[in-house]
Amino acid sequence: MGKTNTDSKEIKNIDYGLEKIFEGAQDFLPLLGTDYVELYVGNAKQAAHFYKTAFGFQSIAYRGLETGSTDSVSYVLKQDKIRLVLTTPLNSSSPINDHIVKHGDGVKVIALWVDDCRSAYEETTKRGAKSFMEPTVEKDEHGEIIRAGIHTYGETVHVFVERKNYNGIFLPGFVEWKSDYNPEPVGLKYIDHMVGNVGWNEMDVWVKWYEDVMGFENFLSFDDKQITTEYSALMSKVMSNGNGRIKFPINEPAEGKKKSQIEEYLDFYEGPGVQHIAVATNDILTTISEMRKRGVEFLSTPPNEYYNAVPGRLLAHNHKLNEDIEQLKALGIMIDADEEGYLLQIFTKPIEDRPTLFFEIIQRMGARGFGAGNFKALFESIEREQENRGTL
Ligand code: FE2
Repeated sequence: MGKTNTDSKEIKNIDYGLEKIFEGAQDFLPLLGTDYVELYVGNAKQAAHFYKTAFGFQSIAYRGLETGSTDSVSYVLKQDKIRLVLTTPLNSSSPINDHIVKHGDGVKVIALWVDDCRSAYEETTKRGAKSFMEPTVEKDEHGEIIRAGIHTYGETVHVFVERKNYNGIFLPGFVEWKSDYNPEPVGLKYIDHMVGNVGWNEMDVWVKWYEDVMGFENFLSFDDKQITTEYSALMSKVMSNGNGRIKFPINEPAEGKKKSQIEEYLDFYEGPGVQHIAVATNDILTTISEMRKRGVEFLSTPPNEYYNAVPGRLLAHNHKLNEDIEQLKALGIMIDADEEGYLLQIFTKPIEDRPTLFFEIIQRMGARGFGAGNFKALFESIEREQENRGTL
């Protein structure tokens, strides 16, 4: 399983592959879901305003000078099941500062919700994970949290969070953040997947790491023949945990006539890191029209020929589009189909000045893939941006 193609016959195998994951998963690391994603940013106060205004996140919790935190400030934002933590250092000697100097704003922590933190830490470190933080108990009047962490690609870390004995707002040390400014949510529901970019010839190293250390399985692969345009290429393998709630595609650059978008990322992030966070919505038309109104910039819309081909692509799999194609086209939303259904997706431009981290908004209508049928249109759009930046 796993070594699959993107044509329809092979996609069927992908689904069988996923079933197999559900049945035969190694359960040494049961994961309940994504707990939070922490970004290290240059100015958390301003970043929080952006995520509230543009992405519709809600103010949840705060930690800073007023709560006794003298070296960093963190804002916690929430939308349905998605929790973002924005952290900024308060002085130049903080290691958080070093991270920002090197990488710019970016994802530091992908926190995973577990039932037993000590076991998660022990099982992964004994399989070769490098420790970031030993199991640590944090307490306040709302109970206790246990957290531990391990290093993954680049300077990114996974933190295991056990919160079954805690009923506070977020973590001990945080206070409720009450704000007078509360823009409406835009309908973002949960994290569908998070993609990591790693260096040349490193994809299989990290695929093996997720298999060996985390018990994940590779259920979908794309080689450089499939993810290529006239100019640039990349390779990708999708890793999933046993229950399928956590999916981490891993990309590496591939040789092309011009510079791979993955190489551009590695140059500007100065190493491997999180490329995009894909968040799910149940109503992409409303979500995207709202985000566009609020100033979020998306990659340029595919050409007319792309939308002309959509009905045929859906029909080939006997699916009927519930949405109005003209509305999808007007908003630049892309459509892909497989045996089980279809999906709607769109990608933001990078959300910081360095061309590094961006977001994907996805609505799944039965399909469990990642929009392989859109890769060409998507990458041509990214190349237009690279051309403008002079980095193609
Ligand atoms: Fe994605």
